[in-house]
Amino acid sequence: MSLTNPQREIAALVANGHDDRVLEVGYGPGRLVALLARAGTVYGVDPSPEMRILATARNRRKSRAGRVDLRLGTADATGFPDDYFDQVVSVNNVALWPDLEAGLRELDRVLKPGGQLVIAWHGGTRPSRITRRLRLPEPMLFRVYDALSSLFSKVDRHELRGSTVFRATR
Ligand SMILES: C[S@@+](CC[C@H](N)C(=O)[O-])C[C@H]1O[C@@H](n2cnc3c(N)ncnc32)[C@H](O)[C@@H]1O
Repeated sequence: MSLTNPQREIAALVANGHDDRVLEVGYGPGRLVALLARAGTVYGVDPSPEMRILATARNRRKSRAGRVDLRLGTADATGFPDDYFDQVVSVNNVALWPDLEAGLRELDRVLKPGGQLVIAWHGGTRPSRITRRLRLPEPMLFRVYDALSSLFSKVDRHELRGSTVFRATR
C-alpha cells in the first residue's frame, strides 16, 4: 500500500478547515489521517484491528492531543451520530464494501447538510503499474456514480494523477 502520492493529491481535495470534523472510512495504516490532521479533527473507521494499531501508532501524538480518533467500524456502520461530519473521505476501499448502497446511505446520514463526500479508487491520468492493475472496469465506476447520484447532489467524477475520484455534496 505505497500510496503516498495519491494520498497527497486527495488530502488537497479534502482541505480541512480549522473547526472541521473529517471522517476517513477505511484508514488502513493512517497515512491520509496524518496529512488531514494538520488542521481540524480527523476521525476514522476501519474494520481491521491491525490497521487500527498501525494507524494509531503513526498518529500517536495527535491521538493523545484529541485531534485524531480512530475506531473500528465499517462504511455501512460507522457508529457516529447523524449530521456529524463536514467531510467524509474513502480511499481505495469502496470496492471492498459488501453493500455499496448501504455504505453510501450511512455516509449520507453522518454528513452534515452541505457536507462533502470524496470517494477515490486506483486510477487516474498517470497511474503506476500496480495502480493500473487495480483499476475498476468502467461499468463498476459507473455504478458508483449512479449510486451516488441517487442520494447526493452535485456529483462529479474526475481523474487525478493516481486516482479516480468522485465528489458528492449532501
Ligand atoms: C487497500 S486498504 C486502503 C487503506 C487506506 N485508505 C490507504 O489508501 O492507504 C483498504 C482498507 O479498507 C478497509 N476496509 C475493508 N472493508 C471495509 C469496509 N466495509 N468499510 C470500511 N473500510 C473497509 C481495510 O481494512 C483496509 O484498511
